[in-house]
Amino acid sequence: MADLSKITCIEDLRVIAKRRVPKMFYDYADSGAWTESTYRANESDFQKIKLRQRVAVNMEGRSTRSTMIGQDVAMPVAIAPTGLTGMQHADGEILGARAAKAFGIPFTLSTMSICSLEDIAEHTGRHPFWFQLYVMKDRDFIERLIERARAANVSALQLTLDLQILGQRHKDIKNGLSTPPKPTLANMINLATKPHWCLGMLGTRRRTFGNIAGHAKGVKDLSSLSSWTAEQFDPALSWADVEWIKKRWGGKLILKGIMDVEDARLAAASGADALIVSNHGGRQLDGAPSSIAALPAIVDAVGREIEVWMDGGIRSGQDVLKARALGARGTLIGRSFLYGLGAHGQAGVTRALQIIHKELDITMAFCGRTDIEKVDSSILLPGSF
Ligand code: GLV
Repeated sequence: MADLSKITCIEDLRVIAKRRVPKMFYDYADSGAWTESTYRANESDFQKIKLRQRVAVNMEGRSTRSTMIGQDVAMPVAIAPTGLTGMQHADGEILGARAAKAFGIPFTLSTMSICSLEDIAEHTGRHPFWFQLYVMKDRDFIERLIERARAANVSALQLTLDLQILGQRHKDIKNGLSTPPKPTLANMINLATKPHWCLGMLGTRRRTFGNIAGHAKGVKDLSSLSSWTAEQFDPALSWADVEWIKKRWGGKLILKGIMDVEDARLAAASGADALIVSNHGGRQLDGAPSSIAALPAIVDAVGREIEVWMDGGIRSGQDVLKARALGARGTLIGRSFLYGLGAHGQAGVTRALQIIHKELDITMAFCGRTDIEKVDSSILLPGSF
């Protein structure tokens, strides 16, 4: 087992992941739409928010424990749904779910995952997890997917509302993103420099979209994500579909991709249990504000009616604390999780969670608080948010 103690921040994991993961999959994770301005703002806007340092406050007996939609969490962080996770590392979704389970935080499986709902259930001892749903034109397929999620012991459904059509990501087009990768000369040369990744892939049968291949009518070739999304995802998605899915599912529902106060009011009125302030990691509408900038107005408008969470740009526990201070009851990590996974598999994900937890715990203490439940905007420097 590799010694990961010298890996001290998420950036360390990112650098290792970039070295180990084939370029087309690393780029898929680590990129945004068009100019990537929203993708960059998600991170840089966190940096602008300053913390108030307090001293001579008893820092003993600290707790980062909280709840997200009533579920106990070791810290207010869940693993976000990320597409093609099993291409960052062989069996990536299974490894991520296991690391999350051991740490005591929720794991969300993406519709566009490589490992299937059934794989996660089987390899985590049927520990409850969350499932992210995309609405596709084939409603029979969606109904079957919801039933499969139920059978796999999924405890909450995350419905993504911001990807009816796919935002253009230049790198994916230039790299010819496909899964499995096509045997072009450029891909072969790149794969030859990633022996660890190749070995892992040779050792698994999970190399395409596990929730979809063999389950959706007429879908045999999923090699081009963009053309497949264009064909299958429903551009006509509306709030009536949200209601339909809510009825079909009947359990906890989380709406993901809310950036506007008017949409937040509709989300709250839909009776969902939580909404996620999210611009899809800057991968959809380039030019949208960062998630952390959009958060306060949404909390102000609907925070008393529905749990408000956020994702986008979280690269440290300090970011989690800032989001919590600005009213997010929970946060989700996508890239911070993927960097850990790409760098060192399950141990890398665990390391990412340890790093974030430690940063959260210590920063909270320096701000004079010992209980995450008592953190509010008074820990932030006025004028910096
Ligand atoms: C969708 O899952 C994406 O690629 O952002």
